[in-house]
Amino acid sequence: MTSNTNILVTGGAGFIGSNLVGALLTDERVQKVRVLDNLATGFRKNLSEFEVHPKFEFFEGDIRDFDTCLKACEGVHLVSHQAALGSVPRSIKDPLTTHEVNITGTLNIFQAALQQGVKRVVFAASSSTYGDSPGLPKVEDKIGKPLSPYAVTKYVNELYADVFARTYGIEYIGLRYFNVYGPKQDPNGAYAAVIPLFFKAAHFVDNAVEANLLSLFTDNKEAVNQIYNVACGERTSLNQLWEMICEVAGCTQKPIMVRTGMGISLIVWRMWERQKSCWLTKENIYLKKAWKKHSSTIILYLKIV
Ligand SMILES: NC(=O)c1ccc[n+]([C@@H]2O[C@H](COP(=O)([O-])OP(=O)(O)OC[C@H]3O[C@@H](n4cnc5c(N)ncnc54)[C@H](O)[C@@H]3O)[C@@H](O)[C@H]2O)c1
Repeated sequence: MTSNTNILVTGGAGFIGSNLVGALLTDERVQKVRVLDNLATGFRKNLSEFEVHPKFEFFEGDIRDFDTCLKACEGVHLVSHQAALGSVPRSIKDPLTTHEVNITGTLNIFQAALQQGVKRVVFAASSSTYGDSPGLPKVEDKIGKPLSPYAVTKYVNELYADVFARTYGIEYIGLRYFNVYGPKQDPNGAYAAVIPLFFKAAHFVDNAVEANLLSLFTDNKEAVNQIYNVACGERTSLNQLWEMICEVAGCTQKPIMVRTGMGISLIVWRMWERQKSCWLTKENIYLKKAWKKHSSTIILYLKIV
């Protein structure tokens, strides 16, 4: 697939999806980028800079509705399926809705893609599929038992993808994101995260975007119908991270750590007065900017997704 490619991005108004849409719109292989999103946790404002782009189309709709998926897949060559209800606690509180969106919705997307002759579905899998597996580093084929309804849904997506490839011949690539952070991440979302940071690994959203581009466009037959980890390949402990922040912010304060239940650890570091969005990149560019702009409390919420 080299040019004139029409791509559907489900969940394109969300954090990762909207970053991907931006990259696709500037890609010369792409003719059209259609977003399907019901704005459950995503925002139209994440797409506002693309609204007038001639390659851009927005369909407001729900992946739980099969006809909507069918319409969204019409004329599409490749799908990047990002739509889902994230959040482990939400799935524990309301497993039925998480199931409907993440499993039935994904099944709808695969079936609609198949019926519309889509060549490949790249989909957002999750590191939560490693569940209780203790081994490090995480290797794709060594998973444990899922630890939440959310993790079950993400694993079932992988199973369905594989069955669709074997049974109907549609191609897939599943991207097991580890903990992604960056611009357009909702600071008031499920975790009200200012800098969402994670236990095992955290990687900047550009990595996830790049992984999607490679997966959508690869011509390597051996690369398809596979699941891949998408992570930064190195671990940063919380203490190391804290030291990095202190270095940038010129602070010597000790972090205050709070542990919560349900498999979520919430760590609060009180440094400044108010919480504001900022992002930590390797070069600390966003953090530096945020630090200069806001003299505020930085609250770091950790989550396992
Ligand atoms: N952000 C992470 O660290 C992370 C880690 C692992 C996996 N993931 C997965 O990556 C994908 C994208 O995550 P994100 O962080 O961008 O989340 P997000 O919540 O910002 O984006 C998800 C998007 O899906 C849309 N959506 C939800 N339900 C829908 C429905 N029924 N119909 C249509 N659209 C619907 C939302 O409105 C939102 O725009 C998800 O599948 C998530 O499970 C994310």
